[in-house]
Amino acid sequence: MIERIKILINWPAFSLAWPAQQSSNTGFSDTKEQIAVRRIKILSFCSGVMGFIVVALGAWTRLADAGLGCPDWPGCYGFVTIPISPEEIDIANTKFPDTPYEVAKAIPEVVHRYFAAVLGFMITCMAFMSLRHKGIPSDIKKLSIFLFIWVILQGTFGYWTVSLKLWPQVVTTHLMSGFLTTGLLWLLYFKAKDRIENRKTWNFSHATKNLFNVALLLVAIQIFLGAWTSTNYASYSCVDFPLCQGQVIPESNFKEGFNFFQSIGPNYLGGQLDHESRVAIHITHRFGALVVTAFLMFLSYHLFIRKYRIMALGLMAFLGLQVLLGISNVIFALPLLIAVGHNLGGLLLITYLGVLRLREQ
Ligand code: HEM
Repeated sequence: MIERIKILINWPAFSLAWPAQQSSNTGFSDTKEQIAVRRIKILSFCSGVMGFIVVALGAWTRLADAGLGCPDWPGCYGFVTIPISPEEIDIANTKFPDTPYEVAKAIPEVVHRYFAAVLGFMITCMAFMSLRHKGIPSDIKKLSIFLFIWVILQGTFGYWTVSLKLWPQVVTTHLMSGFLTTGLLWLLYFKAKDRIENRKTWNFSHATKNLFNVALLLVAIQIFLGAWTSTNYASYSCVDFPLCQGQVIPESNFKEGFNFFQSIGPNYLGGQLDHESRVAIHITHRFGALVVTAFLMFLSYHLFIRKYRIMALGLMAFLGLQVLLGISNVIFALPLLIAVGHNLGGLLLITYLGVLRLREQ
């Protein structure tokens, strides 16, 4: 039995056996460790792609108002997949009389959960490989183990998202924590890649590193504001652009909009805040976008004149795309594809900045 579990946990090591045949030019000597780092590189690449898929599925679930598509966790109305036959649907409705079963809402929720579970498994495999090989570089080992712990926390937030009926604090944390998981997976990939290729990074000056730090902080705050807009259902509170209800700052209630102690208990699907509080949240996200845009343009200029031209152009492209998607969200009244695209745009932006800043020691 134990042997079987070992084989299962070590599955990527068997299925990705091909790196063992490659030769490389790494800075560390033990071949077993080289092979393990190559496997981690492949697996972190696949997990990074998977991270984007899981985040997109999470956004789809939230935006389709399907966050409570399954009122229990980890099952769905007590089923491993979803109730399908009329008998199963009857059982589901008897078990949860307060939340009648809707197949269109159960599907996104279950698909999101299954993909998240696969991602969790991939992260577990990487942590296991890092622990098994003593000579794995410490940054790669630490990152793999941190990701393992983090993904367990992420799953717990997934559970609370359902059990606390979409309490905005938890849904926002769940979204941001998914961004962190995906960003760190890409960082792990690039760190493993740099080890294998023995690649030197950019050698940024102190000032450049500090600018990256500020950019990361501002984008993280902006992502929080976006998630807070979404989880409090404040997207429709300003339907015009660039003004909001024809004014720069219409009547708004910032105190209630940013009250992080909303009570636990009510069902937060559709939001519980009044109109003025939602307006406050929405316009703060818009003003945040102005600050972020100005700062990232400055950072791009800073990078461009220091000969990091492609890096600077990449940053401008991701920023431009994100702002366009944000404005389209408002103008076209939140079409699902654009809203999911805006979510992924935020993830792309912070992952890009994070990898540029942290790939270098
Ligand atoms: C500059 C960088 C920006 C970043 C990093 C950013 C990030 C985000 C994120 C992460 C979300 C949460 C999406 C979700 O829950 O699925 C969001 C939501 C939103 N953003 Fe932005 N955003 C930016 C700019 C803008 C701009 C310029 C606008 C419009 C003027 C805008 C309008 C919105 C709206 C309406 C939502 C709520 C959508 C929903 O309910 O899902 N954003 N933003």
